[in-house]
Amino acid sequence: MALSRRHLLAAPATLAATALLPGPLLAAVAAQTSTLPDLSDWEAVRAQFALDPAYLHFASFFIASHPTPVREALEGYRRAMDANPFLVVERAMFEDDAHNLPLQVCTEAADYLGGEAVEVSLTRSTTEGLALVYHGLPLKAGDEVLTTVHDHYSHHESIRLATTRANASMRKIALFASSATASVDEIVGNLKAAIRPATRVVGITWVHSSTGIRLPIREIAAMLRGLPSPPLLVVDGVHGLGATDETVATMGADYFCAGTHKWMFAPRGTGLVWANAANWARLQPLVPNFTELESYKAWAEDRPPSGPANAARMTPGGFHAFEHQWAMAAAFRMHRQMQRPRVAARITAMNDQLKQGLARLPKVKMHTPRAAALSAGLVAFEIDGVSPTDIVKQLLARRIVASTSPYAVSYARLAPSLVNTPAEVDEALRAVREIAGNG
Ligand SMILES: Cc1ncc(COP(=O)(O)O)c(C=O)c1O
Repeated sequence: MALSRRHLLAAPATLAATALLPGPLLAAVAAQTSTLPDLSDWEAVRAQFALDPAYLHFASFFIASHPTPVREALEGYRRAMDANPFLVVERAMFEDDAHNLPLQVCTEAADYLGGEAVEVSLTRSTTEGLALVYHGLPLKAGDEVLTTVHDHYSHHESIRLATTRANASMRKIALFASSATASVDEIVGNLKAAIRPATRVVGITWVHSSTGIRLPIREIAAMLRGLPSPPLLVVDGVHGLGATDETVATMGADYFCAGTHKWMFAPRGTGLVWANAANWARLQPLVPNFTELESYKAWAEDRPPSGPANAARMTPGGFHAFEHQWAMAAAFRMHRQMQRPRVAARITAMNDQLKQGLARLPKVKMHTPRAAALSAGLVAFEIDGVSPTDIVKQLLARRIVASTSPYAVSYARLAPSLVNTPAEVDEALRAVREIAGNG
């Protein structure tokens, strides 16, 4: 990622400004990479969150509470920018790579994803990433984007808007008859059977926020690669990233879009898209970037940028809430310290505990598969005779924060995560038992 505009902007004023950059300011910015606390036990991890202790928080996947390392990084950058907005932003965005903070964020994210920094584009949400990818694809009249009935509003709308603009079409299929009993063969088989010669792109969701099912992305990608003309695979990965033990860059998605403000605990208003160089090169940028030197040079020389698109060229520019974007690195560092397998095991254990308890309640119907391989961090369920909205209300009356799934058919959801304990899961189970009338 050639972020530095310094060679181009070697105007005396800019050089003079950076040469005079005050030492304390540099130290303030550098201090944001300060060492993390000991996160080797889950109570220490829970202690990083400023969540209201009066509630049990089982909907924290919706939008993250910032943990201390992220809060501190955010505050540090905010203070530095409030003190010296021009000097800090100019240096962090447009000077040499060594001081380039978005590049540092991409490097941390790439380490977690198992890819390269140049493959990561920073966005502000899953929604923005999906929109950039679908609008960037070279869709034309007659092309089809195949998606499923299970995906989120943001995904379907990104496809609808992009296909409408390109005079292409979209089609939705069901991958399974019942989420709770779906199998890998059923999912892969249904998708394979639905692909037509016009299908250029397949858009799916890794972990469904409707039912909690986790799709077997590796198996799906392998099936697609075996087709005579493999369609591109776009994955909405937001509820898998930070909740499962996966190496995203090797999973088989051509475009992986995710917000980092849910399970990753990065600042609100942050996200990313990962793709390899060949797939970035297929796209047409939608928003001018502030991150690629070639785009800037080409503009200054009044010519189109040379070479294919890449992650930097696809990254939406404009001045943003930079402190939020830069503090993403602290969240990735925190996850690295907690270790991906440990995080996933903890989340799986509490979700298993919840599913086992719910399965014992006759009036409860679960929509999330019992198998850990086909689920992740959230459990969707119904109680016979009680609406999902009422379930959530009655849980809240017991100081348990749950949510309903925002889909045409809605379920109640409990999502045990790193902010919870097994004892809290038992308490949530007791509450559901009472609400179901088995108290
Ligand atoms: C599956 C899924 N995709 C996308 C989104 C939107 O995420 P973002 O706020 O990062 O755009 C959500 C919201 O929770 C979701 O559940």
